Amino acid sequence: MKKKIVLFIVIAVVAALSVSVLLTGCTTIDMSKAGPDEIKEYGKLVVATSPDFPPFENLDQAGNVVGWDIDVAQALADKLGVKLEVQQMEFDAVLSSVAAGKVHIGMAGISNTEERDKSVDFSMNVFNSSQMIIVREDNTSITGPMDLAGKTVAVQAGTIGNWLAEMDEDYAYNFDDDGNVLLDEPLLGEPRTVTKLSSGLMAIQQVKNGQADAVILDKLPAQTIVANLNAEGGAQLKILETSVYDDAYAFAIGEGNTALKAWIDSALEELIADGTFDELNEKWFGSSEE
Ligand code: ARG
Repeated sequence: MKKKIVLFIVIAVVAALSVSVLLTGCTTIDMSKAGPDEIKEYGKLVVATSPDFPPFENLDQAGNVVGWDIDVAQALADKLGVKLEVQQMEFDAVLSSVAAGKVHIGMAGISNTEERDKSVDFSMNVFNSSQMIIVREDNTSITGPMDLAGKTVAVQAGTIGNWLAEMDEDYAYNFDDDGNVLLDEPLLGEPRTVTKLSSGLMAIQQVKNGQADAVILDKLPAQTIVANLNAEGGAQLKILETSVYDDAYAFAIGEGNTALKAWIDSALEELIADGTFDELNEKWFGSSEE
C-alpha cells in the first residue's frame, strides 16, 4: 500500500515537472532582446517571413522557402555559426512576431517606415523599391495613381499597398519639411473599395478575373507575379510606369535591441564589401544593382 502511494507521488511530481518545463520552454524566451551572443548560445537564428513575395521569398516546387531574403538570412546565420530556422506566417504577422519577441528577425521585403519604427527597430536599408499599380492590359481608364479614385483596389493585408489604398495619413500624402501631413496633397486618388487579401498573388488574380480594377504592390514582386500570370494565358496584365510611393527594405528586429542592430549592420557591410550582395542580387534579380 505504502509503495503504491510513493509511486503515485513520484509519478505526479514527474508529470508536474515536465508540464512546467514544457510551459517555460514555450513562453519565457523573449527573442526581441537577444544580441549576437545570446543567439549563438541559443544555437539558431529564428527568422520570420511571409513566403508569397518572389523573388524575395517564395515556396519552391518542393515546398522550401527560398529567395533573396532567405539567402541573406542564411549568410547571417553562417556568420554567427548557428542554424537558420525560418518561420512562415502571413505578412501582417511578421512585424508583430518581431515586436512580441517570438523571432529574432523579420525578413520579408519589409519597408522601413517611421510608423513601423515605433514598434520595431530596423537594420540599415538593403534594397530600394517602389509601389506600383497593376491593371488589366485592356484597362484605359487607369493610367496613373490619381485614376484610382472611385475604383476597387486589391492589396495584401498589412502592406504599404494596403495603407496607401486606405489613404492612411502616414503613407498616402505628401509631407511638409516639418513632417506635417499635407492632406490636400494625396499621392493617389481615393479608391471606393479596398479588398484585403493574404497575398499579392491573390490580389493580382482579382484583377485578372475582373473582381478588382487595380493592385498596389512592390515593383519586383509585381514584375515576377505579372510575368508568371501572363505566361499562363487568359486576360493579360500590365504594370503602370508611374509609381505611387518609393520605399526601402530593411530587416526588422526588437525595439531597442542595439546589440543586434550593431551586429547586423556590420555583418551586412561585410556582405556588401565581400561581393556576397552582388552575387545574390545577380542570382535573384538578374542584376547586381539594387
Ligand atoms: N514592402 C511592403 C511592405 O513592407 C510589402 C512587403 C510584403 N512582403 C511579403 N513577404 N509578402 O509593406
